[in-house]
Amino acid sequence: MEIYAERRARFLQQLGGAAAVIPAAPLVTHHADCEYPFRQDSDFWYLTGFDEPDAVALFLPHREDAPFVLFVHPKDPTAEVWHGVRCGTEGAVERFGAAVAHPLAELAERLPHYLEGAEGIAFRVGRHPAVEPLVLKAWAQQLDRAPRRGSAALGLVAPCPILHALRLRKGPEELERLREAARISAEAHELARQVTRPGLNERQVQAVIEQHFLEQGARGPAYGSIVAGGDNACVLHYTANNARLRDGDLLLIDAGCSLSDYYNGDITRTFPVNGRFSAEQRELYALVLAAQEAAVATVAPGVTAEAVHLAAVRVLVEGLIGLGLLSGSVDGVVEQVAYRHLYMHRTGHWLGLDVHDVGAYRLGEHPVELEPGMVLTVEPGLYVSDRLPVPEGQPAIEERWKGIGIRIEDDVAVSDRGHDVLTAAALKSLAAMER
Ligand code: GLY
Ligand code: MN
Ligand code: MN
Repeated sequence: MEIYAERRARFLQQLGGAAAVIPAAPLVTHHADCEYPFRQDSDFWYLTGFDEPDAVALFLPHREDAPFVLFVHPKDPTAEVWHGVRCGTEGAVERFGAAVAHPLAELAERLPHYLEGAEGIAFRVGRHPAVEPLVLKAWAQQLDRAPRRGSAALGLVAPCPILHALRLRKGPEELERLREAARISAEAHELARQVTRPGLNERQVQAVIEQHFLEQGARGPAYGSIVAGGDNACVLHYTANNARLRDGDLLLIDAGCSLSDYYNGDITRTFPVNGRFSAEQRELYALVLAAQEAAVATVAPGVTAEAVHLAAVRVLVEGLIGLGLLSGSVDGVVEQVAYRHLYMHRTGHWLGLDVHDVGAYRLGEHPVELEPGMVLTVEPGLYVSDRLPVPEGQPAIEERWKGIGIRIEDDVAVSDRGHDVLTAAALKSLAAMER
């Protein structure tokens, strides 16, 4: 709880005079009256560690007596019989550090009063349909009263620039949890490679991976696991995972776990279903691996995510020109993005409480420079198929390359002097991918 209190103190300080309204996530319907397992909103979690739905946290820098207020579902024996124990208002104060806590039903009535004296309201519009009308109404009510009271919150601002800048820079306790998510995720990939053989269904390999996540105490997969044999790997967000694995194909697995406190792993490995690369698969695997290692090698304080991306792109383009899959000069192909039919995504993203974690990649004209404590994925790939048109001036793709989809993805923490590959326990050398 101390960690959350420290985060709140930093957030409150940076809010200046604005009051922040940060809602928890609601339960989401799966079908009929069945809901998905609850997934807390990451902003709300980061500041509270409170894992119940629908709650609303207020951060009130203008209220020294009550800087952190929680609205929660109150204790209710009948509801708790159905849905499990609730913390209640008393628990919100005693266990979660709220100065005051109220039942959620009182939010509409109390919100305008809590906002009194705030210079602005920090609330993310467009994301919280249940809470947004209450915030707007409270603000309107305040503006109505302003002439007699003498003040009102003047503007609605987004809390994201402050909160997401905090979340982008991970503390030691967060790095430890990301390391744990990486450990479990890496072990699952090692297990998956050991069981894979021709004739299995993709889903059976998915089961091995997700069983390991659960056995290790994670909540489950951090995102829909991608277990893609052969040409399915060329569909970037393939999650059907329901095809037979064929002798001679590659298997691409993009899977990572989400821990009980929501920190995530995100790993991709690609290897031959039968344990031996074909000549074409070997060429392209070696190329993606070289690109990935070159990109990882660039990760250090002061470097930009764009530079990491370009490091991978240059190796891929040079290799593809050598193999006859692209033609022209490296600079020309890179500049014109004439490789986009073979490599169509970016090389990575921030990683944290969200898999595609929050935090700016650019601030105005300036690309954000890496700092110790930031964590990003490095995940170049090649996807050879007929799905996208070959850019003008580039060679037609020979049949022997088609149906090969490869991605290699690691989670990398920026350290004081360079980087730390959190997912190094998931092997990726050419030799390790064969048996
Ligand atoms: N699994 C999603 C990603 O790699 O970005
Ligand atoms: Mn990723
Ligand atoms: Mn991934």
